[in-house]
Amino acid sequence: MPTPTLHWSGDVNGSLVIIDQTRLPGELVEIELTDVDQVWHAIRTLQVRGAPAIGLSAAYGVVLGVRGAAGGSEAELRTRLSEVTVHLAASRPTAVNLAWALKRMQQAADQLAGRTPPEIVAGLLAEAHAIYEEDRAMCRAIGRHGAPLLADNSGVLTHCNAGALVTADYGTALALIFVAHESGKRLHVYVDETRPLLQGARLTAWELVQRGVPATLICDSMAAQVMREGRVQAVVVGADRIAANGDVANKIGTYQVALVAAAHGVPLYVAAPTSTFDLSLTTGDAIPIEQRDRSEITHGFGRATAPEGVGVYNPAFDVTPARLVSAIICERGVIQPVNAERIAAMLAK
Ligand code: MRU
Repeated sequence: MPTPTLHWSGDVNGSLVIIDQTRLPGELVEIELTDVDQVWHAIRTLQVRGAPAIGLSAAYGVVLGVRGAAGGSEAELRTRLSEVTVHLAASRPTAVNLAWALKRMQQAADQLAGRTPPEIVAGLLAEAHAIYEEDRAMCRAIGRHGAPLLADNSGVLTHCNAGALVTADYGTALALIFVAHESGKRLHVYVDETRPLLQGARLTAWELVQRGVPATLICDSMAAQVMREGRVQAVVVGADRIAANGDVANKIGTYQVALVAAAHGVPLYVAAPTSTFDLSLTTGDAIPIEQRDRSEITHGFGRATAPEGVGVYNPAFDVTPARLVSAIICERGVIQPVNAERIAAMLAK
């Protein structure tokens, strides 16, 4: 059994154990988180990352944050729950799975109104476990629905990391690849290294090597040439937030890949659970884009690669317009073509 990306250890007094993704691929190290500030820090610093995993961590973070109030009144516990939720929501802004998971936890607490604080805390842990189990099932379903889109003997390009490391199980974008590979399809995966933090090189390449899927690492700037050479028949990526019209926020560089894919007639598939849709936003223009520290670009992994004093712009995500997305694969099926009507119909299922 591979080491799980994250899991809860013990009963309500237990802890959240995560793989520290900042240390991959060099070291596979698990760390134990025992309070909500540690969870906030782990999300913020990308020790745990990727939209579904951020949501799962936040759900367990709520338990860690409120359990200290189990000895007080119900009102005190609810005040603490609000504080913890607001705190965790501020850790990263783009992936809507974070807000989605926190809302689920709040609703679970609301349904337990009138129960004792220890019962409410136990109920919150049960809800976090339920979200975790749903996430596992979601990965498998996305893989099943999406794998038929990948042809035998074909090349697939992916950007960033949307594999086992971002979920409780099998990933989203990589789930298509894993299911197709396990069913005997011969795929070759081109992995964008994904500047500036190299989630493709450090994490996706690591996952593919671990599972024996043939893979070639390329710099982000090589995607156009690789497509021009006819090596890629499909692009598969994950998503951090999808607006009602199908505009997709994902790791910075996805939009560029989508434009290149469209120029070469290569379909771009987005794999994401229904918890990644944000129907409150009509288009992707309103999706908040996280801005990260300049040092990620000027001092990537410790070494200065730019002069002091140069201006730096470091948005962590971009928005790919729906017109460039060939299909969205969620746990309920395939949305194709991608438009507001099809999305609303799928989410209403
Ligand atoms: O900054 P990160 O590493 O959290 O960004 C992750 C991505 O952009 C993933 O592609 C996205 O969360 C989808 S994961 C199913």
